[in-house]
Amino acid sequence: SSFNTTQDNKPLIHATPPEGWMNDPNGLWYDSKDELYHMYYQYNPNDTVWALPIVWGHKTSKNLTIWDDAGIAMAPTDTITGFYSGSVVVDYNNTSGFFNSSTDPRQRAVAIYTYNTPEAEVQCVAYSLDGGYSFIQYESNPVLSNNSTQFRDPKVIWHEESQKWIMTVAKTQEYKVAIYSSSDLKDWTLESEVEKVGVLGYQYECPGLAKISLPDVVLESGSNNKTIPNSSSSKDAWVLFISINPGAPQGGSYVEYFIGDFNGTVFTPFSRETQALDDGKDYYAFQTFFNSPDNSTLGVAWASNWQYGQYVPTYPWRSSMSLVRNLTLEYFQANPESKILKLKSQPVIDYDCFTSNSDVIKFSNLSSLSTLDSIYSFSNSSEGILEFNLTWSVNSSSYDNHDFADLSLKLRGGLNPFEYLRLGYLANVNSFFIDRGHSTNNWVNENPFYTNKLSVNLQPFDYVNDEISTYKVYGIIDRNIMELYFNDGFQVSTNTFFFGDYNYISSVELSVGKDGVFDIQEFSVRQLHL
Ligand code: FRU
Repeated sequence: SSFNTTQDNKPLIHATPPEGWMNDPNGLWYDSKDELYHMYYQYNPNDTVWALPIVWGHKTSKNLTIWDDAGIAMAPTDTITGFYSGSVVVDYNNTSGFFNSSTDPRQRAVAIYTYNTPEAEVQCVAYSLDGGYSFIQYESNPVLSNNSTQFRDPKVIWHEESQKWIMTVAKTQEYKVAIYSSSDLKDWTLESEVEKVGVLGYQYECPGLAKISLPDVVLESGSNNKTIPNSSSSKDAWVLFISINPGAPQGGSYVEYFIGDFNGTVFTPFSRETQALDDGKDYYAFQTFFNSPDNSTLGVAWASNWQYGQYVPTYPWRSSMSLVRNLTLEYFQANPESKILKLKSQPVIDYDCFTSNSDVIKFSNLSSLSTLDSIYSFSNSSEGILEFNLTWSVNSSSYDNHDFADLSLKLRGGLNPFEYLRLGYLANVNSFFIDRGHSTNNWVNENPFYTNKLSVNLQPFDYVNDEISTYKVYGIIDRNIMELYFNDGFQVSTNTFFFGDYNYISSVELSVGKDGVFDIQEFSVRQLHL
């Protein structure tokens, strides 16, 4: 393939703006007639920073891997307001009265979003008669206002049990998620409010509710560790997502979630803990798709952070989305004594998009890996997309506190090998490390918030015996973004990184700090070519 030089380093399988600025994903929905996924996003086509008038950009995808640009779906008519974040629903039964028989029920898209003006933030609706490419504003907008400049990001779902539309919307600086219901998407009734849960930070943004199946086993009461078959009447839980910015534990922006029950009126968490949807620095404003196929829970986040997202060294575009993730609920061994219910994330990638899967390297003989580096360079030139699987065991009796017992992976650029990502695991502290600071771009070291070194507290996913435990990570790298899924997705860390133009990763090195500590069960890397 050949690349447009102005688009160097732009991710290929993560949605990006054609030019200009992108933030939150908006209005994610699946058109089951044309079998097409729609993604809108906060878009400033005029500059590479956020500015008014912010509009809804539009992307579509057949396979959730390649995103086609579909222009601008809707925009305010002046320059001092913004069409802020919101959602899209499919109004199959024409509850809104916006449609007639000329619009296929599966394409009756209605957008519910925040209209931001200097005076207030109010919720508006708009409908599409062309399958989501353009929207007509409802003449009696707004449909919901609260006399506030801090009232935004409506996410609407269909609540099957009560046959109502349910909206979650943030009263951002009161730390409230207000829950409204409606039968027609126009008249909204306040049902309840979730107030001051979890990490508060400066404000709440982009809330959302999703129904997700419970695992087939549940925890036996009174025991931390035993699971028993799930015989409860409810096979589902409800997950409440809230985005926090600034003030996230890892700095800046992050997404937290709570698992509980929702009866159409009130959300009741099952437990008190706050959980992070992603442990990295670049995962914000997560939203789920309306009408995800097969009852799945698919969602996308903005792969950036308000701490530095407007300064990152890319031009003439800034930011991308994360890959689409499929979320499920499962028990996670958080430490040797406790299991907790947790969301597990799996990336959605359609491998049919790639022309060749042949450029694979599988390292063998790694059980005898010594402190000597094991190096491999790909023979084909890289387009910047690669994935790897690394599974390793640690023998805890084979090192002491004097040792730096690390397993270290370096992923180097092909044009300039002085730029590399360093990833690995330090047995002494049971943590995975990520170092994105080895770049020749000074910005990386000068920006005070672009944290170069990050960690993920890892638990084994399996124990061979008391001394030997096993861990694994799947990584997918797409030019300037890396998503790491640990232990089949119980923990994820999503982080951008910035190398020089065309310096796509094209070699890998694996090394250990001490012999006899690690047993590498699998290490395979493959380059993906579009
Ligand atoms: C979150 C956010 C939303 C708002 C949008 C404006 O990143 O601040 O609360 O609707 O971005 O672009």
